[in-house]
Amino acid sequence: MIYPIVKFGNPVLEREAEDVREFDTPELHQFLQDMFESMYAAKGVGLAAPQIGFSRKITVIDISNGENPDDKLVLINPRVIKTEGKQEGEEGCLSIPGFREQVRRGKRVTVQAWNAKGEEFEQTGEDLLARAFLHEIDHLYGRLYITHISALKRDLMKRKIKKLQRAGDWD
Ligand code: NI
Repeated sequence: MIYPIVKFGNPVLEREAEDVREFDTPELHQFLQDMFESMYAAKGVGLAAPQIGFSRKITVIDISNGENPDDKLVLINPRVIKTEGKQEGEEGCLSIPGFREQVRRGKRVTVQAWNAKGEEFEQTGEDLLARAFLHEIDHLYGRLYITHISALKRDLMKRKIKKLQRAGDWD
């Protein structure tokens, strides 16, 4: 099923998610399928479980947007173990639609995580994949990309979002 995306303002986006302890269950496999479906429906390249209202340390990533099955990635209880270099680029978030900002991130990032079967693995990504790793893992710790922009830009964005909320255009 396709879940609606939770938007900025919902507290589930700003708290640390729970670790996953049970792997390879029918519920987990179904949930991951639903996460991919929800991500593709929203035209995102990454989705974290809190963004569909589940406070669990699960994220799915596909930087090919459904074009290349080899790019489908599941990261459970992931953490960043190495970051090298820097990249500047625009970033957006499905939970903050209509906004994009320049965000400096690591250029080459190695993560350690578990897959759906409960097997531990490490993977290194560069450029867009590195950015997706950092953005999505941030979500699992309650951090949105706007924590990486200037306070001035962040306040401006929050004011615009408040206006949209008051107008009923945000939910
Ligand atoms: Ni996001």
